[in-house]
Amino acid sequence: MSESPGAKADFQTDTVSSGYILVVDDEAQIRDLISGYLTKGGYDCLSAATAEDALALTVAHPDPALVLTDIRMPGVGGVELLHRLKQTNPSVQVVMISSHQDLETVRRCLREGAYDYLLKPFDWEILSNTVSRALERHDLLRENDRYRTNLERLVLEQTEEIRQTRDIALITLAKLAESRDSTTGLHLDRISAYSRRLAEELRNGSYAGRISLAYIEQLAKSSPLHDIGKVGIPDSILCKPGPLSSSEFRLMQTHSTIGGDTLRSVLERFETRGFLIMAMEIAYSHHERWDGCGYPKGLAGEEIPLAARIVAIVDSYDTLTSDRPYKRAVPHAEAVQRLVVDRGRHFEPAIVDAFMACHADFEIIRGEVSTSESEEDEHDTPDSAVEEAPQ
Ligand SMILES: [Fe+2]
Repeated sequence: MSESPGAKADFQTDTVSSGYILVVDDEAQIRDLISGYLTKGGYDCLSAATAEDALALTVAHPDPALVLTDIRMPGVGGVELLHRLKQTNPSVQVVMISSHQDLETVRRCLREGAYDYLLKPFDWEILSNTVSRALERHDLLRENDRYRTNLERLVLEQTEEIRQTRDIALITLAKLAESRDSTTGLHLDRISAYSRRLAEELRNGSYAGRISLAYIEQLAKSSPLHDIGKVGIPDSILCKPGPLSSSEFRLMQTHSTIGGDTLRSVLERFETRGFLIMAMEIAYSHHERWDGCGYPKGLAGEEIPLAARIVAIVDSYDTLTSDRPYKRAVPHAEAVQRLVVDRGRHFEPAIVDAFMACHADFEIIRGEVSTSESEEDEHDTPDSAVEEAPQ
């Protein structure tokens, strides 16, 4: 050593790190000299005679800011100590203490994450500068970690807030549309629950790999918007207590285009990607038929968006099993029979098959999501082989 450790203690105490410094050397004299010097410099300092002791110390006293370690020690050497320290604490700074014959090892340590090295015998001023720079680097890394963690938390919070706002907007839109129709809001809840169940069945069967969990979530939230276009239908038609004339029926059919166009204009205005796209597809196409005889465009087969193909059968089931001014609800078994008749006509065969595999759950959902109040205010007239198919 160039000077006595007690003779020069030129550390700046305002650079004291939040962590402590760990000195590891099997030579007690060097260990004590360095520790004494650092302690006089105002640092919290611990020391260990072996790498094993050092690792045990970091368990009892986690998060050292800086470790000064000899390379050659009995048992686990300084190189292995460097690896283990970095594994558990990437921001810890490790300075290797070496002699000239260890230079090749030192280069390897630097490549593997060591901050710097000190050659024995070393100058106290060099030690002082090395320690100060290493601690600055440690504090900088810690600050970056805190900043990143904070940023990630903020992003998560904001993402959740946006998601909630989006869901509220969807529910509000759906409820508004439904309130014009005087139908109980539970209709929307059932459509959502049926759509989710049917999509899950498809995901586990013929649509495995093509329907994701995120898709199912989006479908459950978007399906209640299927009739949002009814806000554009006059009360005289929407609330008419009886069958519609053919001209009234044609006007009623425009609800799918009104709803789809409304959602499309929102999408174009706000350049939304993903959000509302499925809702728009459902609003436009939930009255299309697999055989191409539906409306508004007469799309056929897979030209009809999958979400709309799912909602088509879900909406029909709910209409069949609900009371209307002009008809009573049919029992579950009869509704199932009527829907099966339209396999390959109104509905996609694979979706009818999935429905058949899980229709018992529909009955359960219907029992759970229902009200003692009559839902007979909703207006509906036949438009397909399913006599009471929804508008
Ligand atoms: Fe509809």
